[in-house]
Amino acid sequence: MPAVPDIRIHRDSQAWAAAAAEFVLEVGKEAVRANGRFLIALSGGTTPEILYRALTSPAFADRFDWSRTTFFFSDERCVPPDDPRSNYALAKKALFTPLNIMPSQVYRMVGESHDPQAAAYEYEQQLRLATKIAPSARPSLDLVLLGLGEDGHTASLFPGASILRGRQHLIAATQSPKDPPNRLTMTLAAINRASVILFLVTGAGKAGVVRAILDPKTEAERQLPAALVAPEEGRLIWFLDQAAAAELPIR
Ligand code: 6PG
Repeated sequence: MPAVPDIRIHRDSQAWAAAAAEFVLEVGKEAVRANGRFLIALSGGTTPEILYRALTSPAFADRFDWSRTTFFFSDERCVPPDDPRSNYALAKKALFTPLNIMPSQVYRMVGESHDPQAAAYEYEQQLRLATKIAPSARPSLDLVLLGLGEDGHTASLFPGASILRGRQHLIAATQSPKDPPNRLTMTLAAINRASVILFLVTGAGKAGVVRAILDPKTEAERQLPAALVAPEEGRLIWFLDQAAAAELPIR
């Protein structure tokens, strides 16, 4: 039975960022209490920046011991780590550096690789090693952060991509209609294993696609990549601001 999404709507991006930061700390504290560590995958795009700013602000920065956290990425653009389009570059500038996160705590996807397939395979091996799971098993991260594109893509899983039907790989090299074209991404097989999947979506520009994912009317909408995110055992949470939730049916 697919997890019923828990949809949380906040009046504006500031309230949204504070609530999202509170939620991340809550999941982190629970993971450290239960397993002695917190395994989190960061999403790409621009939306996470407001969350990072909240987590590194005086209101939150000292409320969690980040030293037991291991950071992964839900996806990456195939660009160098200092490229302004790099998801790692944003996280380094707005989260890792302000929180003094050690490089050993961060597993970044090697976007600058000239062989994305090999980089995807390499990252999958690292993910397995870092999460200490058996070769045949699939890791279950404590928290996977995801964004949402206006075409219904999430991570770097784009509509119609063949990888959406695959189940064997955890990490894949994909093509994006958005710049930059070459991407590395977690697959649904990796994402849907998470204990908590958190969609972070703000802004009026996303209202239409949010409605399509959370209140689908057609089979095409049900097949959008973000609609295929369904945790096998975990929780599915959507953090929206009012602008992004504007077309959802009144609950
Ligand atoms: C990426 C992303 C992508 C992103 C959405 C939303 O690397 O591009 O992971 O899935 O989350 O495109 O992007 P914005 O947050 O910039 O709207």
